[in-house]
Amino acid sequence: MSKSDKDGKPKNPEAIRKDEATSPETARLTIGENTYDLPIRKATMGPDVIDIQNLYRRSGYFTFDPGYTSTASCESQITFIDGEKGILLYRGYPIEQLAEYGDYLETCYLLLYGDLPTQAERQRFDNEITRHTMVHEQMRTFFQGFRRDAHPMAIMVAVVGALSAFYHDSTDINDPQQREVATRRMIAKIPTLAAMAYKYSLGQPFVYPRNDLDYASNFLHMCFSVPAEEYKVNPVLARAMDRIFILHADHEQNASTSTVRLAGSSGANPFACIAAGIASLWGPAHGGANEAALNMLEEIGTPENIPKYIARAKDKNDPFRLMGFGHRVYKNYDPRARIMQRTAQEVLAEVGDPNDPLLEVARQLEQVALNDEYFIERKLYPNIDFYSGITLRALGFPTSMFTVLFALARTVGWIAHWREMIADPKRKIGRPRQLYTGPVMRDYVPMSRRGTGLGEGIHNQD
Ligand code: SDX
Repeated sequence: MSKSDKDGKPKNPEAIRKDEATSPETARLTIGENTYDLPIRKATMGPDVIDIQNLYRRSGYFTFDPGYTSTASCESQITFIDGEKGILLYRGYPIEQLAEYGDYLETCYLLLYGDLPTQAERQRFDNEITRHTMVHEQMRTFFQGFRRDAHPMAIMVAVVGALSAFYHDSTDINDPQQREVATRRMIAKIPTLAAMAYKYSLGQPFVYPRNDLDYASNFLHMCFSVPAEEYKVNPVLARAMDRIFILHADHEQNASTSTVRLAGSSGANPFACIAAGIASLWGPAHGGANEAALNMLEEIGTPENIPKYIARAKDKNDPFRLMGFGHRVYKNYDPRARIMQRTAQEVLAEVGDPNDPLLEVARQLEQVALNDEYFIERKLYPNIDFYSGITLRALGFPTSMFTVLFALARTVGWIAHWREMIADPKRKIGRPRQLYTGPVMRDYVPMSRRGTGLGEGIHNQD
C-alpha cells in the first residue's frame, strides 16, 4: 500500500471500522451451573471491551491478567494504537502527519485539549509555556547533593518529585484551575530540569532558558551553550529534536503512563505522580531501551558480529534480548521507528558521519532479524528505541541522557492521561486484586517449638 498520496502527504492510515451489526451487545460467561451476561462496551476504533466491573460481586471470581495483555485499565480518548497495522494516532491524527507538518508544542496542545489549536490559542499557549520555563532558584541546591556521576534519570526522579515541595498553589487536584497551572508548569520546566541534570553531570554551569527561542531550540541551548562562547542553535538539529519529542509524546497505557494513572488515582501531588512515571520509564524493558539499544550496537561493533548476537537473542538460556526490538502492542513495524530512522539519517548528514558504522550495524541487524524465522514468528520488529540512540548520540547527547529525553517528551502524555483520569467523575482509586497461592491460615509457633539451627525455620518448608 503506497504510504503517501501524489504530493507526498502521508495517507491517512486505513482506520479500523467495525461492522456494528455483527458486534454483540453482551458476552456470556458460564461458571459451573451459573451463567453471567457481561455488557460489551463499544470502542470508536480498535477492540471493544467486556465490562467485568461487577464480575467479582456477582460470581466471587477475579479475572487474572498479570501483564495486562488482555485488559483495558481505563477508557481514554487521547491516543490510539493499532499494533497489527502499525498505526499510532494522537487524538485521531496520524503520527506521520504530526511529525511531518506539526511541532511539539502544538502536539502538547492537541494531547491536552483534544484538538489542534487556532492561531490565537497556539499563541496564548506558547506564551504561557515560555514564561514558566525557569525553576525556583533553590531547586539548584538539590543537584549539589548528587555525585557528578549520578545517572541523570536518578536525578530527574528526585528533582521532579521535589517540585511537589515547591508548588503548593497548584496541587489541589480537584480545582481545574490549579490542574491547569500544574500542567503548564510541568511542561515548561521539564526541559530546564533535564538540561540542568545534563550540565551537572558535566560539571558545567546551569544555563538559564531564553524566551526568544522555541521549545526545542531552548532545550538545545540550555544543554550545549557555555558562558565562554556564543552558541548558535542549528535549525536542522532543532527540528530533529522537536520531531523526536513529538514521536515520544504519548503512547496509550504503557507502563509509565499506567504508573502515573495509578499514582494519581489516590489523589497524590501531580509532580510526585510524574516522578513515579519517570521511575517506571527508566527500566530497560521500557524507556531505558534507547540507552540499552545503543550500548548493544556499540557492543556488537561490526556487522560481522551480528550473527553471534542474533543467536544470543534467540537462546532461551541467554537473558540477552535485541534492545529496541519487539513491543507488547506493535506486531508490525513501529511507525515511530521509521520516522526515527529517517531523522537519524538527516542528523548524521548534518553533523555526524553519514556512514556512521553504528547506523550500518543497525541497518544490517534489522535486516537479518526481519528475515529470521524466530523474529518473524514472534512478530518482533524495531520499535522507537532502535534508531533513537544513534540519532541522540549524533545530536551530541551521551547515552545516559537518552531516557531523560524520552521522559522530557513523554511528560505531556503523562499529564494528559492524569488530567483525563482526575476529571473523570467516576474516578476510583486503582486497587487490583490477586490470585493468592501462599500459605493457608495457621497458628503462631512459639520459639521453643521451632527448629534450632539455621535453615530449619518453618519459612524454609515448601
Ligand atoms: C517502549 O508499551 C509501550 O507503548 C512502550 C513504548 C512507549 O512509547 O511507551 O512503546 C516504549 O518501551 C518500547 C519497548 C522498548 N523495549 C525494548 O526494546 C526492550 C526489548 N524488547 C523486549 O524486552 C520486549 O519485546 C518487550 C518488553 C518490549 C515486550 O515484551 P512482551 O510483549 O511482554 O513479550 P514477551 O516478553 O512475552 O516476548 C514474546 C516472545 C518471547 O519469546 P517466547 O517466550 O515466546 O519464546 O518474544 C521474545 C520473548 O523471548 N522476545 C524477544 C524480544 N522481545 C520479545 N526475543 C529477543 N529479543 C527481543 N527484543
